[in-house]
Amino acid sequence: MRKEFDIQEVKSFYDSVGWQITEDGVYQNARYEDLRPVSREYIHKCHLRINRHISHKGKYLLDAGSGPLQYPEYLTYSQGYTYRVCLDLSHVALLDARQHIGSHGLFVVADVANLPFTDASFDDVVSLHTFHHLPLEGREKAYAEVFRMLKQGSRAVIVNGWNHSPLMDHARLLVQICDRIFIRDDKSKIPDPPKSTESEPIAKGNAPAVPKGTFVEKFDAKSFKKEILPQFNTEILVWRSVSVRFLRSVIHPGWGGKFLLRILYKLEEWFPHYFGEKGQYPLIIMKKKEE
Ligand SMILES: C[S@@+](CC[C@H](N)C(=O)[O-])C[C@H]1O[C@@H](n2cnc3c(N)ncnc32)[C@H](O)[C@@H]1O
Repeated sequence: MRKEFDIQEVKSFYDSVGWQITEDGVYQNARYEDLRPVSREYIHKCHLRINRHISHKGKYLLDAGSGPLQYPEYLTYSQGYTYRVCLDLSHVALLDARQHIGSHGLFVVADVANLPFTDASFDDVVSLHTFHHLPLEGREKAYAEVFRMLKQGSRAVIVNGWNHSPLMDHARLLVQICDRIFIRDDKSKIPDPPKSTESEPIAKGNAPAVPKGTFVEKFDAKSFKKEILPQFNTEILVWRSVSVRFLRSVIHPGWGGKFLLRILYKLEEWFPHYFGEKGQYPLIIMKKKEE
C-alpha cells in the first residue's frame, strides 16, 4: 500500500525507530546495510568517494539530512572546513551527531526542501540517502534549495538509490541461484532494505517483525535525467553499483567475495558514468559555475 507523504511521520519514524540502537548494537537504520566483514573494504571505499568531489576548504559544509553521522567515514567529509552544519528533521539524530563530531558541528532541525539559510551560504554540500524521503513531485525544489545554498565554484554531492537498476535486474538470476547455494544465515535476522515505500511490518520465518518503514520515493535514471538534470549543472557518477540484496546473496567469504568486490570497484572506477546510471546508487554532483 502506498504511504502518503507526511513530514511529521518521517521525523517520528527516525526519532523513535531509525535512530534507535537495536539489540545488535547498531542503529535500526544500519540494518539495511551490509555490515559483514567481507563487504567492508568495498563499502568503505565507496563511502570515501564523496571526498573527491568537495573542496575540503572554507567555513561551512552543509550535511543535508545528516542523521547521527553513523559511519566513521562520514566524519572525513568535513575535514578542512571550519564547521559542518548537520541539518536533519530528527532531533534524536542530531543529539547523536553532536556526540560523534563535537564542537566541529553546528546542528539545525529543518526540512531539506525549505532550507533556513540565505543564498550562497555554503562552501560545499553533501546529502546522503535523504532526498528519497521527499515526494517526487516537489523533489526539484529540494535540488533547487541545495543549489541556492552553493557559493560560486562550489559543489553539492547527493547520494540516493535509483528506483530501478538495469544492472541489478540483469543480476537477478545470479542472486536467485546464490540464494539457493548459500542458505543465507543472516536472512532470518536482517531485513532486506526497503526498495520503495513500506507500510507494513515485515516478518520472515520466526524472525521478529521489523518496524514499519517510512515514506520513500525514488527516481529512475530516465526520469531524473528528464526532470532534474537539465535544470541544474548536474553530473551522474557512481557511488555504489550493487544493492545490499546483491551483496548479501552473492558475496561470501571463502568464495572470493572480497576479490570480486575489488574487481567491481575497479570497474566502477573505470566506467563511473555507466555504473552511476545503470547501477543501484548514483552519486549526483551539482556544480555552481563561477561567473
Ligand atoms: C536514511 S537516513 C540517512 C542519514 C545519513 N545521511 C546517512 O547516510 O546515514 C535519512 C535522514 O534524513 C532525515 N530526513 C528525512 N526527510 C528529511 C527532510 N525533509 N528534511 C531534513 N531531514 C530529513 C531523516 O530524519 C534521517 O535522519
